[in-house]
Amino acid sequence: MLDELKEANEYVVSKIEEKDPLILEMEAFAIENNVPIVTKEVAKYLEFLTSSHNFKNILEIGTAIGYSGTIMGRVAKKNGGKLTTIEIDEIRYNQALENFKKGELLNSVNLILGDGVEEVKKLNEKFDFIFIDASKGHYMEFFTDSFERLADDGMIFIDNIMFRGYLYKEYPKRFKTIVRRLDEFITYLSKNHNFVLLPFGDGIGLVRK
Ligand SMILES: C[S@@+](CC[C@H](N)C(=O)[O-])C[C@H]1O[C@@H](n2cnc3c(N)ncnc32)[C@H](O)[C@@H]1O
Repeated sequence: MLDELKEANEYVVSKIEEKDPLILEMEAFAIENNVPIVTKEVAKYLEFLTSSHNFKNILEIGTAIGYSGTIMGRVAKKNGGKLTTIEIDEIRYNQALENFKKGELLNSVNLILGDGVEEVKKLNEKFDFIFIDASKGHYMEFFTDSFERLADDGMIFIDNIMFRGYLYKEYPKRFKTIVRRLDEFITYLSKNHNFVLLPFGDGIGLVRK
C-alpha cells in the first residue's frame, strides 16, 4: 500500500464489513501463510467494477489462492460467463482449485497451471475484463498479449502498478529494474492508451478499449 495513503486506505477498509465465510477464510489463510492477495479495498473495487459492468468473460493473470478469482468468478457465473485464471505455482494452483470447489465455482472457472506469458498467447477468445496481478517484471508482456484479447469496450485492471510508492520516492536499490520497467510501462500506457492511474491500494491502472 502507498505509505502516504495508508490512513485513508485504513479508513476505507474500516467501512468494509465482510460477512462471506469463504472470503473471510481466504483472507485469514493469506495472512497466516503470507500469501499476497489484493487488499480489501481493492477487492471491493474489483467486485463493484465487474458487477456494475456485468462483465461476463473475465481473465486473470496471477490466481494465488483464488481470492480475487472467487470474487470475479461469482460475477462471471451470475452473468452466465466464466473466469479464466492463470497461476504459475502448483501449490497455489491446488489451493485455488480447492477454494473454487468450496465456492461451487468449478463450472464457471477455467483454472490454468502455467506461465501467464505463455498461456495468454494460447487463448483464442475475447475477454471483457482482464485483471493483471502477477510478476511485475512482466507487466508489459502481460498487457500486450492481453490487450489483443480484450473485447471492444473491455477493460484491463492492473494492480500494484505504483509498487509501494517506489516509483516516486527512495527505494531499495535491488528494485531498480522493476521500478524502471513499471515507470516506462506507465509512460507507455499514458501515451498510447485510454488509461487512468489511480493512487488507490498499491496503485491501480485502468485501460479501456
Ligand atoms: C499477488 S498474487 C495474486 C493474488 C490474487 N490475484 C488475489 O488477489 O487473490 C500473484 C500470483 O501470481 C503468480 N505468478 C507470478 N508470476 C506469474 C506468471 N508469470 N504467470 C502466472 N502466474 C504468476 C504468483 O505465483 C502469485 O500466486
